[in-house]
Amino acid sequence: MDLGLKNKVAIVTGSGSQIGFGKGIALALAAEGCDLVIADLNLEGAKKTAAEIVALKHQAIAVKVDISKLPEVNDMVKISLDKFGKVDILVNNAGTSAKPKPFLEMTEAEWDLDINVNLRGVLNCTKAILPHMISRKYGKVISISSGVGVTGMPMEPVYAAAKAGIIAFTKSMAKAMISQGIYFNNVAPGVGDTGLLRISQMPPDFIERVVKTVPLGRATTPQDIGNIIAYLASDISSDIVGQTFSVDGGVLML
Ligand SMILES: NC(=O)c1ccc[n+]([C@@H]2O[C@H](COP(=O)([O-])OP(=O)(O)OC[C@H]3O[C@@H](n4cnc5c(N)ncnc54)[C@H](O)[C@@H]3O)[C@@H](O)[C@H]2O)c1
Repeated sequence: MDLGLKNKVAIVTGSGSQIGFGKGIALALAAEGCDLVIADLNLEGAKKTAAEIVALKHQAIAVKVDISKLPEVNDMVKISLDKFGKVDILVNNAGTSAKPKPFLEMTEAEWDLDINVNLRGVLNCTKAILPHMISRKYGKVISISSGVGVTGMPMEPVYAAAKAGIIAFTKSMAKAMISQGIYFNNVAPGVGDTGLLRISQMPPDFIERVVKTVPLGRATTPQDIGNIIAYLASDISSDIVGQTFSVDGGVLML
């Protein structure tokens, strides 16, 4: 099936991790013919992902950005527009997590990290790109929330709250912007063996234990997430507005 994504331009935040969902998203969009802005706090990683896409004969640039800082996000959008002249698709994928612990043991700095990157980062990127999308009456804004934003998670209450915030923001913005031709949807992944779980210092056997509870019997992969993002980024999904898609092998039991 041709998704009609040839020559569309996509920004994918957090696509510098070599084992993360963002790289899977960027590769899936490139395979459909998109040009890519690989945006990440980790510039070296972003350059690696961009080089891989260029080697596949697609266009890609690497941009360093901290999505929690609006001026940096504005620069990211300006660099993207200077290079490609337009942005059709924004994938809000970048995210992080404070070390999992009960709420009363969390510091305010840990709240700030969870909220400022995971929720404020999505607001910043959306604010920076929206005037351009409105001017073209076209755009797809797809955010990566999380299964824990739907179910809650006792050891990551603020991260879960930020992810639930993305879901409510998506619904609200979808209703506000669909008349302008701008789509908002979000994808709630299950457990993936990515950098996120490794930086959050889960016990070494954590992924293995959690994966055993997933009915499908495996972790969610970057390719799984890339596939649904390509579908939601295409005009084939044009009746889908403000939705949350669980991509988690059945259920996430923690
Ligand atoms: N791994 C999972 O089990 C899981 C489950 C549900 C949702 N998610 C979400 O998936 C998304 C991708 O994460 P991942 O699991 O691939 O982890 P990952 O660590 O492999 O990738 C996250 C990327 O985001 C980048 N990043 C972090 N903070 C940033 C900032 N302030 N500005 C710009 N870039 C920043 C990192 O450098 C990294 O490249 C995140 O939003 C995460 O919350 C992950």
